[in-house]
This record gives sequence, C-alpha cells and structure tokens, in this order.
Amino acid sequence: MHPREKLAELERLAELGGGEARLRKQHEQGKLTARERVEALFDPGSFEEIDKLVMHRCQDFGMERQLVPGDGVVAGHGRIDGRPVYAFAQDFTVFGGSLSETNAAKIVKIMDLAMKMGAPIVGLNDSGGARIQEGVLSLGGYADIFLRNTLASGVIPQISAIMGPCAGGAVYSPAITDFIVMVEGTSYMFVTGPDVIRTVTHEEVTKEELGGALTHNAMSGVAHFTVPDDRACLRLVRDLLGYLPSNNLDEPPVRETVDPADREDETLDRLVPESPNQPYDMLDLVHAVVDDGVFLEVQRLYAQNVIVGFARLAGRPVGVVANQPAHLAGTLDIDASLKAARFVRFCDAFNVPLVTFEDVPGFLPGTRQEYGGIIKHGAKLLYAFAEATVPKVTVITRKAYGGAYCVMSSKHIRTDANFAWPSAEIAVMGPEGAVNILYKRELEAATNPEPLRAQKVAEFREKLANPYVAASRGFVDEVIRPRETRRKLIAALAGLQNKRDRNPPKKHGNIPL
Ligand code: HXC
Repeated sequence: MHPREKLAELERLAELGGGEARLRKQHEQGKLTARERVEALFDPGSFEEIDKLVMHRCQDFGMERQLVPGDGVVAGHGRIDGRPVYAFAQDFTVFGGSLSETNAAKIVKIMDLAMKMGAPIVGLNDSGGARIQEGVLSLGGYADIFLRNTLASGVIPQISAIMGPCAGGAVYSPAITDFIVMVEGTSYMFVTGPDVIRTVTHEEVTKEELGGALTHNAMSGVAHFTVPDDRACLRLVRDLLGYLPSNNLDEPPVRETVDPADREDETLDRLVPESPNQPYDMLDLVHAVVDDGVFLEVQRLYAQNVIVGFARLAGRPVGVVANQPAHLAGTLDIDASLKAARFVRFCDAFNVPLVTFEDVPGFLPGTRQEYGGIIKHGAKLLYAFAEATVPKVTVITRKAYGGAYCVMSSKHIRTDANFAWPSAEIAVMGPEGAVNILYKRELEAATNPEPLRAQKVAEFREKLANPYVAASRGFVDEVIRPRETRRKLIAALAGLQNKRDRNPPKKHGNIPL
C-alpha cells in the first residue's frame, strides 16, 4: 500500500470507531458520536486531534485481533469563542468507551498539555468504565487521571460532561473537576449500580433513579447542570467557559455590552414586601441588575434556599451568591452551605469577583441539621468567604441575622464594599425572637401579652433591626436605594479592579471538611 493510502486507511478506521452498526446504535439512543461531540463543542473547524492512531497493547481475550486506531477516545484541542481549550471525548462505540492503559495515556497527555498551556480541559464522558480485559493497567490509568485532576484543581477550569454511563471509581474524575453537566435520559453516575445494590442492601432502584441527571442535580448535588440533550450540553459548556479565565493567572474574559452601567430599575424599590415574613423571589433582583438580565444559574435544582451562578456587570464576569427568601425563608442549611462554599472557592481560585445578595434569617434550626453537622458545613461557607481575596461586594436587602450575618460576606471577613437597602434588618436575631427572650418575664406576667409584645417588637425594630446601626459603625459602607443597585455594584467593582490581597503563606488551609 502506498504510504498516502496507508494514512488514509488508518484515518478512515479511526473515524469509523466501533463501526457503522455501533454508531447507528449511538444515534438511536439520541446520543451524538464522540467525533460529532467535539465538532459541536469547538468553534467550527478549529478542533485538532492528537493520538488518532494510538492502539491498545492488550494480548489477552482475543483483543490482539480487535484493534481500532484511537482506542476509544478522541482527544485534542481547539478554540471556544476563539480561546484555546483541550478536550477528550470517550467513544462508546469502541469497547464501550472503556478505559485502557493507552486510552488513559491519551487522556493524561491532553491533561498535561492543558496544564502546560494554561487552558481549560473539558471531558466528555461516555464509558463502561475500566477496560475489563486490561485489569490493573486500566485501574492505574484511572489513578493517573485522578492525580492530574487534583493537581489541575484551581489552576485550569475543568469541566465534565456526562453523556452516557459513568460508573464505579470512574465517577471520581468528574467529581474532582469544577463542574458536572448531565444529559437527561442518557447519562448516569453511580459508585455501585442497581445490581450490586440489590444484592447488598436489597433495595430496588433503576439506573435513572439511582444516578440520572435529575437525581444528581436535585438530590445529591453531585452535578451542577442538567440539559435535555447532547447539543444543549455542549452549548452549555461553551457558555460556561465564556465566564471563566483560561487559568488562575488570567482574568475572566470581558464581553462588551450595550446595557447602560447607570441603568436604574424602579421595580426594585418595591421588591421587598411590607411584611418582613413575606417571601419574594431573589432571582428578580439578580436578573434586574446584571447585564441584559442574563444569569447562568449553577445547581439550580439543589438547595434552592441559596442561589449561585455567573453573570456579567459592565461586561465583566461575576459570581453571584444570594439567599433565596422564597425557599426555606432563605435560611442556610447544610446543603446550601456546601453549595455556596464550593462556588465561592471556585470563583476565588479563578479571579471571578463575588457579588452577594443577602436576606438570611439565620441557619436552619433542627435536629436533622445539628446531627448532620451544620456546624462544620456552615463553617465551610464562612471559611470560603473569609479566605477569598477576589473583589467582594455585598448588598443586604432585608434580613442579616446572627451568625449568618457574619458568614454572608460581611465587612468583618474582608468584604470590600458592603451596601444595604433601607429595608435591611441587621441584628442578632429577628425582632420577634429577640422580644421573646428579652421580655420573657414581662410577657409571662401580662394578662394580655399581645399588645405588649407588639409594642416591644416595634421598639426593637426601630432601634436595632435596621441598617443604620451598622452604617454608623462602617460595617455597611453605604445605604443605597434599591433602584440604583446596578450602578452601585458596577462602580464598586470598577474601584476594585486592581485589588491586591493575599492570605498568609501556608501549604494549604484546613477547611472543615
Ligand atoms: C470492556 C466493555 C466494557 C468494559 C462495555 N464494554 N463495558 N468492554 N470493558 N468495562 C463493551 C461491551 O462488551 C460491548 O461490546 C460494548 O462495550 C457495548 O456494551 P453493551 O453492554 O452492549 O452496552 P449497553 O447495553 O449500552 O450497556 C452499557 C453498560 C454495560 C451498562 C456500561 O456495558 C456494562 O455494564 N459494562 C460494564 C460496566 C462495568 O462494570 N465496568 C467496570 C466498572 S468498575 P460489543 O463488542 O458487544 O459491542 C470501574 C472501576 C474504575 O470502572 C476504577 C477507577 C479507580
């Protein structure tokens, strides 16, 4: 065969993957193939494949007669919105996308390149796990990947798309990465599958119930996004990368906007209801102040009492953390603390300024929370905000009570600009709770305690539950009108653009895990 023909033949075989029938099956399941996925992920025509001709070296179980160039993973680099990104896509049509020694080496090579170039890495997962025929060689390959995931953490953004099976120890690579996107109906993640569970615990559960997109987005909090299909998944990965710098030494990309920096929104003046116990939707505030109302919410279905996600202000990406009074009254519980802490640490690692909207009546009371360790989990959020050295701006819209006041990016933990709306109530606890404690004896002695209680609550609110005590101490820098929130945030962040702050030298802190 002429050398040119030989190359063409090898390339044809690589592109054919597991063959026509298996490619057809992939499509019949509503999935794109690995090659279609990388094409859709990158800017058109920008993907450059490497290691296309790598083949496995297994000589057992007849494997020596089954050689597919590429060995079940498509790896390379390309551009997303013009910026370099590295990626690998497991090809389920080749030995179920299973991880062999050589297949792992390809992934490791691409991860090492991404680290060296300071570019994000995207993993498109669709695999039956360790290649059974290769035994420990495959397990070693996984561990090589886990190590690199860990070393890359906080250096380059790592995004995992789950677009098929991801089971057993294989789940731990995505779990270490920064964001997990799951495709509804075709993806699942679990450490042990339904069959093992049936044997060990006698529980009956389907794959979907156990580890489908909804399970991990709404119940476990393992995943960050759920999308209806492969194309939506790849669009979301592109979108997400648009908020992130290429690496921890870069700044997030600025996107020009025509949304005026001084745009006011009068509806915000009426957002907080008259009654302090009436909920409102904090998302209305987020959408009202950010550029063009565009907000990429992260973990939308999980711990909905706190909102986290990315937006832009005057074109610059910010990470938004907000209490949600419309869910569990905006209290912080274990799940919300974990969700927000991880997000805050991501933003801090990648130079994304933090904007906090606060309306929090405190930590959620109850034995479930205490037995579950709300002390150590709540401490994670406190630790995350306190250690963050990125620009930090907070707006208190209503309640800022007790320990939660300190936690939610207060002035005391190095927040740069602290604003409060006139409706803010900053106190050790709500007026009702405070009066019940302070005037317990008087209330018990009174034949009709209600008028007394109402009077004391009003007095307490007037004296302590407002933003002016905090403002008089400089804990709040400015009490602002709600309508001017966008302008104030943009001005504050502009002033913080060259912020320099650092933590004391250490190997690493000891966050209460
Ligand atoms: C080698 C594999 C494979 C594997 C699938 N295949 N998984 N080959 N090693 N792990 C092959 C199949 O033999 C089949 O080949 C093709 O891929 C497609 O698989 P099907 O079973 O036909 O597909 P489907 O019905 O869609 O089922 C998908 C599946 C199932 C649920 C993923 O294949 C499966 O259960 N695979 C084994 C999963 C597993 O136990 N893996 C090890 C987990 S432990 P042909 O030639 O017929 O097309 C693990 C440890 C990681 O991964 C350790 C990290 C520390």
